[in-house]
Amino acid sequence: MSEPAIEVYEVEDRTFPPPPAFTAQANTTDSSLYDEANADYEAFWARQARELLTWNTDFSTTLEWELPFAKWFVGGELNVSYNCLDRHVEAGRGDKVAFHWEGEPGDKITLTYDQLLTEVKKFSNVLKSFGLEKGDRVAIYMPMILELPIAMLACTRIGVAHSVIFGGFSADAIVDRCIDAEARLIITADAGYRRGAAAPLKPTVDQAMEIGAPSVENIVVVDRCGTDPAMVDGRDHWWHDLMAEASDNSPAEPMDSEQLLYLLYTSGTTAKPKGIMHTTGGYLTQVAFTHKYVFDLKPETDIYWCAADIGWVTGHSYIVYGPLANGCTSVMYEGTPDTPGKDRLWDIIERYGVTQLYTAPTAIRMFMKWGAEEPQKHDLSTLRVLGTVGEPINPEAWMWYHEHIGGEERPIVDTWWQTETGGNMITPLPGVTTTKPGSACHPIPGVFAELVDDNGEVVTNGGGYLTISKPWPSMLRGIWGDEERYRETYWSTYEGRYFAGDGAKLDDDGYLWLLGRVDDVMNVSGHRISTTEVESALVDHPAVAEAAVVGGTDEITGQAIIGYVILRGTHEASQELGDEIREHVGVKLGKIARPKTVIIVPDLPKTRSGKIMRRLLRDVADGRSLGDTTTLADPGVVSEIAAKAAESDED
Ligand code: PRX
Repeated sequence: MSEPAIEVYEVEDRTFPPPPAFTAQANTTDSSLYDEANADYEAFWARQARELLTWNTDFSTTLEWELPFAKWFVGGELNVSYNCLDRHVEAGRGDKVAFHWEGEPGDKITLTYDQLLTEVKKFSNVLKSFGLEKGDRVAIYMPMILELPIAMLACTRIGVAHSVIFGGFSADAIVDRCIDAEARLIITADAGYRRGAAAPLKPTVDQAMEIGAPSVENIVVVDRCGTDPAMVDGRDHWWHDLMAEASDNSPAEPMDSEQLLYLLYTSGTTAKPKGIMHTTGGYLTQVAFTHKYVFDLKPETDIYWCAADIGWVTGHSYIVYGPLANGCTSVMYEGTPDTPGKDRLWDIIERYGVTQLYTAPTAIRMFMKWGAEEPQKHDLSTLRVLGTVGEPINPEAWMWYHEHIGGEERPIVDTWWQTETGGNMITPLPGVTTTKPGSACHPIPGVFAELVDDNGEVVTNGGGYLTISKPWPSMLRGIWGDEERYRETYWSTYEGRYFAGDGAKLDDDGYLWLLGRVDDVMNVSGHRISTTEVESALVDHPAVAEAAVVGGTDEITGQAIIGYVILRGTHEASQELGDEIREHVGVKLGKIARPKTVIIVPDLPKTRSGKIMRRLLRDVADGRSLGDTTTLADPGVVSEIAAKAAESDED
């Protein structure tokens, strides 16, 4: 780790105990789950697995742990789609609404568990008709429409692993992921609605196919927006044509507890995204458990809404698998929070009577900017629990959420976790924990987190690196196709510990405060983007000789991507060239990774050993004082960079 930089912010001493009216009805209100898990965490998770899920074959061993490889619920067999659908229908709850889906233009679909099951069965037969079998992988590149969870669940019914690719990613990103996973099929849509317009998806898949993804044999296309994309004969098929022919007879196949459920690619510190592997029994146990206790779920009466995109892990675990395993009714929304108006979320909450809202600090900061008048236009009194995820929540945003959305009486659950952890890891339990604004509080029962210092010694007070010291059911099982990288990335920094990449602080009361990434990964609007990946995309532009990327501080997005570039040969610096370089990254990686600012500089500050001094570049981006620059090869470069940064701020 080159730059630990554990910054500790001021002590926050406001505390918020669970409101008595909340505790009076909460799923858990005391330390009993913690006590049980601390006494025997394997037995605790075994109980959760048996109580929350339905198994075709009970497991014989709870955990086999050969560091860093875990197997949970060994010998057990179950099917995820059965647990998410059939068992609720069999119990007579088929008429219960699974999703209230709201399209961005205002179109609405209500899908019951019974209807969802029928669609899933039919689509699993479509998958089979393409010769897909247990163990195969398919890529899914879709907008937030109901066919997305249908496709995912259909995969799980027959043991095919899905790899969902966020709809904002580029053709290159699709190619890389399809090649790495050897995906045989891509499921997509012509387009999806975003801010009042159809944002094309199928044309991007076509570009990907032109670049080359040889494992892909077929493409299934949902007609969402009627944009009439080009269809290649024999390769491209309309979803509605296939479904019209498909039988709805498809038994859920029992899967081994450790059967691969899905891959989800995430950025690391290198340019190549990692295919994070999640399996069946452990994953479903932890997402069902956390969804029930962290959100205080009452499946009979709640209308739960996670306003994330299924393209990220939050959507996998807390729009699809957790909520459906628990048999609850969810809202699913296609579009953005500002279309048609800046009160979109509050309007949806009022109309459906939403009881839990799960969103991100970046969204909350945007709502703050739009003003409290927007939520005040609506009745939000049905809300019971407010969740946040994706990045540290600053105390002002926490307080705004508490006051303006929570009416000062709804518990807030600030949930820390990662793509790799599969489910919530550190979070308050709303009927138990006294919260502090900005603290994720404590590990959930059955999860053990410890901070360590540079030498790997446990820190019991103050700043350190966040590690997880025991395996947990929904932990990643590896990086697809790269066992060594898995060991190296997560288990080699501190012996015997999973190192998450985050810095944190433990306060005097034993509360954890997450302080952000300590590696070269940026967090932009709650999304992980690797500096290296953006740097590679920058130097891919013909005018760029060298590039360094840092995450600057941004009021709304948390961090913003700032790219410093040195031009090649005779290229002249200009605003147009800077914009063109930014766009180039947008095309290579997707808009989400497009730098907010590209600063063209004559040179980059490097240490005498030739390492780019990122901290300095971050300080420049943030307009901070520069501190000690004596290890620089040429200190003059810094002032020149600072001047360029100031210029580009004025633009
Ligand atoms: O830095 C942490 C931050 O998001 C990273 C994980 O990103 P990703 O795998 O994309 O998953 C995001 C959604 C689970 C973490 O390493 N992070 C996530 N939640 C929090 C957080 N940082 C602080 N507080 C959180 N609640």
